[in-house]
Amino acid sequence: MAIDCKNSGAREDFPKDGPKPNYPEERSGWKGYVEWEKYPEKKADAASVLANYKFPGPPEFQLQQIPLTNPLLEGVRWKQYHYAMGDTLTEQPDISWKYVQQEKSADMNHVLQFPYNGEPPRERLVETALTNNKDHFVRNHGGIPEIENDAYFLEIDGLVNEPKNLTLADLQNEKLFPRQSNVVSLQCSGTRRIEQINEYPGDGDELINAPWGEGAIGTAKWTGVSLKKIIKHCGGLKDGGKGIHLEFYGADTYFKKGNVMNYVVSVPWRKVKLNEVLVAWEMNGEPLPRIHGFPLRTVVFGYIGARSCKWLYRIKAIKGPSQAPVQKKEYLYYTPQVGKQNAMYSNGFSIMEMPVSSAIMTPVTKEQIVHDGTISLTGWAYSGGGHWPERVEVSGDGGSVWYQVPDENLSKKYYHAWRTWKFDCPVDAEGWLEFCVRTWDNALNTQPTYVRSAWNFDLHVTSSCHRIKIYSINRSKPATAARLKQLEERGLDILPITRPLEFDLESDEHYDKVMEVMGGRDPEE
Ligand code: MTE
Repeated sequence: MAIDCKNSGAREDFPKDGPKPNYPEERSGWKGYVEWEKYPEKKADAASVLANYKFPGPPEFQLQQIPLTNPLLEGVRWKQYHYAMGDTLTEQPDISWKYVQQEKSADMNHVLQFPYNGEPPRERLVETALTNNKDHFVRNHGGIPEIENDAYFLEIDGLVNEPKNLTLADLQNEKLFPRQSNVVSLQCSGTRRIEQINEYPGDGDELINAPWGEGAIGTAKWTGVSLKKIIKHCGGLKDGGKGIHLEFYGADTYFKKGNVMNYVVSVPWRKVKLNEVLVAWEMNGEPLPRIHGFPLRTVVFGYIGARSCKWLYRIKAIKGPSQAPVQKKEYLYYTPQVGKQNAMYSNGFSIMEMPVSSAIMTPVTKEQIVHDGTISLTGWAYSGGGHWPERVEVSGDGGSVWYQVPDENLSKKYYHAWRTWKFDCPVDAEGWLEFCVRTWDNALNTQPTYVRSAWNFDLHVTSSCHRIKIYSINRSKPATAARLKQLEERGLDILPITRPLEFDLESDEHYDKVMEVMGGRDPEE
């Protein structure tokens, strides 16, 4: 009989009568790193430990209103999976939260408390073209391993001619490796997922399908060594690299369908050869924060963020793409008729290069704005795969008339980074208007018009035009100016529009005068 777990993430509420496994730390100076991939029997044992428990299911956050709490979701069963693994991983939920407090801005929107997933407040994200490290979104599948600089080394093995272990000092030795810095955006394929959820719910794991807003994207100047140079240092690849992929291993522990594993993903050698995969130790001139992968991570330019592996401890050259579950079973894009009824791993696209996308960050939906004929908007625009945003267009009428954001209002172009933008949009109309943004990249790709056009069961890659609803109050209209004056004279505000007016809308004299001009309410025959 499976042991029932309460629906509580507190450690003291976790059942005490379960097995007490002992999976020791793999290396000294590496806290919270349990090696699973090298030990199939340990993996099998951990799966059998998990099988003793009946964990609570994921919370329903799609068919029901998402709670307005921060954290939005707790990740109860993800905490419990870690408690079930015994002492080595039991503290991971607490350690993870400690680094959120230490390394992230106090006002982050915590989408999921554990494993930690969080995004910055909307308006701040696009204030600067390079994202402050404290504001960069975080997407974790597990806890945060605490690795000491001096104890760190990277293993490179598999189909390389000379497998090697390299310390940080080796990698940072410029006599061995030239240093490379690039401005690169990382974007999670979950960015803007909430728009898909709001219209058409899909798969609903609180971690895999976390309800992200527009902030699961960030841009930093990353510094490290091109992976190509490391492979060269290891004597190159067997077979001249034909069909080879480089598989990255992260030291965190992940749980999927009752199995336990490290975080593992890969990229093709073809990509590495272009010097578009960085093994990085610096983020905007500072050592990587722990939450972003200290001491070493990969940064894969223009690909889905999932391939940029944090807490990197091993790079293995293999034939073909990684068969590990994160890549093979998770980051898949299904077309709209594929869903719970017929989805398989083989009938989804494996998400690699990110398509062109953009978002309006200010104002936010349901805002009511008093203006004089223009409304100011800010946002970001991005395209993956080495493309860059060439033109950003904003519409104030749901997408019939588009205004081009002037080039001088877009931040600098890079091959692999977003452009932030701002625009004063002419607005004549009043009442509820739908504003939207679309971006064209240098290869003439642009965005699908509606969420429905790009809806997919796993709710990835929301690339449709981003739409917000704004209530426009245009002071340049005489009637509006008069109403605003009436309110001002009484010391009242027009906002929010939902608060009823406390006075009569017009005088009887004015009403009668208008009726006379109209010929009364009824026809006179
Ligand atoms: N690497 C490890 N080891 N574990 C993870 O959970 N998450 C990936 C990737 N690398 C992840 C990881 C995902 S899905 C994304 S989008 C990026 O890291 C996010 O990077 P960031 O948290 O530094 O913004």
